[in-house]
Amino acid sequence: MGNVTVIGAQWGDEGKGRVIDWLADRADVVVRFQGGNNAGHTIVVGNSTYKFALLPSGVVQGKLSVIGNGVVVDPWSLLDEIERVRTQGLTINPDILVLADNAALVLPLHRDLDAAREARAGAGKIGTTGRGIGPAYEDKVGRRAIRFCDLSDPAALETKIERLLAHHQPLRAGLELPEVTAEALLAMLLAVAPKVTPYVKPAWRVLDKAMKDGRLILFEGAQATMLDVDHGTYPFVTSSNTVAGQAATGSGVGPSGGGYVLGIVKAYTTRVGEGPFPCELRDEIGERLGVRGNEFGTNTGRKRRCGWFDAVLVRQSVAISGIQGVVLTKLDVLDGLDTLKICTGYRIGARVIDYLPAGLSEQAAVTPIYEEIEGWQGATRGARSWKDLPAAAVKYVRRIEELIGAQVAAVTTSPEREDIIIMRDPFRG
Ligand code: IMP
Repeated sequence: MGNVTVIGAQWGDEGKGRVIDWLADRADVVVRFQGGNNAGHTIVVGNSTYKFALLPSGVVQGKLSVIGNGVVVDPWSLLDEIERVRTQGLTINPDILVLADNAALVLPLHRDLDAAREARAGAGKIGTTGRGIGPAYEDKVGRRAIRFCDLSDPAALETKIERLLAHHQPLRAGLELPEVTAEALLAMLLAVAPKVTPYVKPAWRVLDKAMKDGRLILFEGAQATMLDVDHGTYPFVTSSNTVAGQAATGSGVGPSGGGYVLGIVKAYTTRVGEGPFPCELRDEIGERLGVRGNEFGTNTGRKRRCGWFDAVLVRQSVAISGIQGVVLTKLDVLDGLDTLKICTGYRIGARVIDYLPAGLSEQAAVTPIYEEIEGWQGATRGARSWKDLPAAAVKYVRRIEELIGAQVAAVTTSPEREDIIIMRDPFRG
């Protein structure tokens, strides 16, 4: 038995929360290693629906849940989320939740900057979640971020705030945003500090001990490979590394700590926000997928763009993240379609290519090469074993497996926790 890293292999919203919930049952520790409250993981247990943006999904089952150094944390949003899930009956305390002392904070000035830039970008806007994630990562890389460890050192905090504002004031003036005073920011941070510091620890030590004690760790990725700041459809990406390699860097466990890499793949493709999407369907089939798949953002409520399954993209994600197996989600959304299409390659003019190029104009210029595959009239919805699936659905899954070059470890057939067909246990590698 070994650790497992779960990542999205398309543009996010593949249903990672639900898969994490399945795996968290047997894990001892669940770790978030990148992103922030731009994520939205939904878990349905019986009549309760839990929506997480920052908390690792392991909190549903009372597992030790770690927010690693690679995450940018909006402490006010985190506290709201903690309160919200407490009212749903979950227990959150410092025995269960650990915040990495070296994680950077998302501040209100980051949200201001995110919103102001998007508002001015016109057609060039990224379509961000507006949560300040990009600006917070900019400050982290720029070495002027406020981190959790700074909250318990008020003298150092003052100096850090000065340094931060020396960068932000001119930016804010240029964007016609009101000035933020050092006193106001310091007061805000000192007010929130006692509420979060009980959770703050050297998370890498907690994880090191867990590994030495032979405890199983589940790394919970947010967003997805095609939104990775290096490997995604740049600049229409998020501002963190979302690939599996980040599990190690974003939590401090070393390259082999992440264990088995499980990619989560929706049985079709969706994307929120702007950016290239070669298989997008702007027709009634796209609408149908959106309605049947309830393709609206967990946190932002935004409508997701929908399209056919793109095997080129997923094959690329398999390579970039070293994905060893995938969970194919939402197969039931395709029930009742006469014909399905799978993208197997791209055309740019007369050229045929089998990968998504890095350049934005080339990405925008590719047109999909489709293979048609027979649909199924019977229902896959609620199926819990292979033998419950129509033959054409099995064929669809097998064809995807062949095209992406990774095994399908499981298939989900409804949002319900139990509606999953499991072929392979990721903890066994
Ligand atoms: P940001 O992460 O808010 O800066 O947004 C950058 C891009 O990533 C936008 O296209 C967002 O729609 C997308 N994005 C961020 N988080 C998620 C997510 O959890 N699911 C899907 N897309 C996301």
